[in-house]
Amino acid sequence: MDNPYLAAYRAATAHQRDHDPRGLGPDGAPWLSCMCDDCRGLARQRGFYGLLREYAWSIPTDTALDTIAGCSPHGVLEVGAGAGYWAWQLRGRGVDVLAFDPDPHGRAGWSSGRRWTGVGVGDHTAAAQHPGRTLLLCRPEPEWGAAAVDAYRGRTIVYVGQVAERPAQLSSPARVVELPRWAGATDRLEVHER
Ligand SMILES: C[S@@+](CC[C@H](N)C(=O)[O-])C[C@H]1O[C@@H](n2cnc3c(N)ncnc32)[C@H](O)[C@@H]1O
Repeated sequence: MDNPYLAAYRAATAHQRDHDPRGLGPDGAPWLSCMCDDCRGLARQRGFYGLLREYAWSIPTDTALDTIAGCSPHGVLEVGAGAGYWAWQLRGRGVDVLAFDPDPHGRAGWSSGRRWTGVGVGDHTAAAQHPGRTLLLCRPEPEWGAAAVDAYRGRTIVYVGQVAERPAQLSSPARVVELPRWAGATDRLEVHER
């Protein structure tokens, strides 16, 4: 299935490398705001956080999605799903995903309001209701992310986001999958087993 966010990321990388490599971050990762003198493309076209708000805050890859599918024999519960991009990608692979967000229409500004798939209205407390499912947290805010981990009674938690923002209860991942990163970011996927 198409992964337009990954395609946009690759396009941004190629664009910045070809037009003005000085714009690339120290690890060769592209900046969210294009530094190209000619067009200053992504920043001007979509606003600094435009891609994050349109798609998701972290970029899914085949390996990341297959890893979630492989550790979720009874399906996934995603809380804080935002616009539903990760849930959409997983459902496209046949994974049974329950997805919730208190603001799936993005009125608070976290997402653009685009809906990639159905996301129900609900918050982190849903984690207490579905212990059989793998709990998926994609770029949770620290406070509710930690509360979701506390509420969850199941076995497997997948954390997607920056290491420094990970809920403190999740210290020793059983598996790590590196993700494409915007310059300055440290996003990765971690599988935690209890
Ligand atoms: C940084 S955004 C990440 C959204 C999405 N997971 C992504 O990666 O694009 C944080 C999300 O947390 C949601 N949120 C805020 N309070 C929440 C809560 N108490 N429980 C669950 N989600 C919450 C926001 O509405 C927002 O969609």
